Amino acid sequence: MTSVRGVALVTGGSRGIGAAAAIALAGDGWDVGISYRTREDEAARVVAACEAAGRRAVAVQADVAESAEIERLFDEVTQQLGPISAVVNNAGIVSPAGRVDEYDVARLEEVFRVNAIGAFLVAGAAVRRMSTARGGAGGVIVNVSSRGAVLGSAGEYVDYAASKAAVDTLTVGLANEVAKEGIRVLGIRPGLIETEIHAAGRLERIGSTPPLGRPGKVEEVAELIVFLASDRASYMTGSMVDVAGGR
Ligand SMILES: NC(=O)c1ccc[n+]([C@@H]2O[C@H](COP(=O)([O-])OP(=O)(O)OC[C@H]3O[C@@H](n4cnc5c(N)ncnc54)[C@H](OP(=O)(O)O)[C@@H]3O)[C@@H](O)[C@H]2O)c1
Repeated sequence: MTSVRGVALVTGGSRGIGAAAAIALAGDGWDVGISYRTREDEAARVVAACEAAGRRAVAVQADVAESAEIERLFDEVTQQLGPISAVVNNAGIVSPAGRVDEYDVARLEEVFRVNAIGAFLVAGAAVRRMSTARGGAGGVIVNVSSRGAVLGSAGEYVDYAASKAAVDTLTVGLANEVAKEGIRVLGIRPGLIETEIHAAGRLERIGSTPPLGRPGKVEEVAELIVFLASDRASYMTGSMVDVAGGR
């Protein structure tokens, strides 16, 4: 069995990329805390899979758009597993397909609240606990952005793409803020990955358009997250890494 690396927290770990990342982190020696919003049964299955890999795991219900719930999430995972030294800032939503001239305030507030404000709140909670300037032991934050941040997602969800561009900027700015406090901050930009986040029929319609000719699998994204979280990426911070089949 691999040695214990520490405790990792994955937001949105009940399914999709977050679930695969949690299971892959457990396989690489991390004890894992996951958060979920509503899907308790699926979160429990991810916990069981992490435990089957020989590690401790726990699931906590918490909305990443609520700062009090994020504080409770970090505290519960720390109480049950120990100090957190890796955070995968993964929970996210897309908006329904539509053009910018159709968006209303409610739609914009929801996508920016979860994807951008949620990512900032989770990153802030992580720094308050991990920064050596605050008595912590250091660590790593991996932010899950999207290739949409660069491509713009025209005709589908430019607001989602813009909320992920905020995650890219968070990654660079925060990396510079905390580089001397023992914390590395990295971001990944997945392309089209096979998860439930896509509207019905979208993957079938455009799944073969990336240069590699197929959508990506969650395990292919999880592999990158595990690498960036590990000491194998010890000289990386402030970088965005694409995992998008050439898209
Ligand atoms: N799939 C892709 O093609 C793709 C491409 C680029 C970027 N991404 C990004 O990758 C990340 C994961 O996406 P995915 O495709 O794996 O999505 P997914 O399958 O829809 O899973 C989303 C996860 O986020 C959780 N979640 C959603 N809103 C939340 C909230 N307000 N508070 C707490 N948790 C919340 C969900 O919890 P419940 O299960 O409880 O609902 C679930 O665990 C997202 O940030 C997404 O933008 C995905």
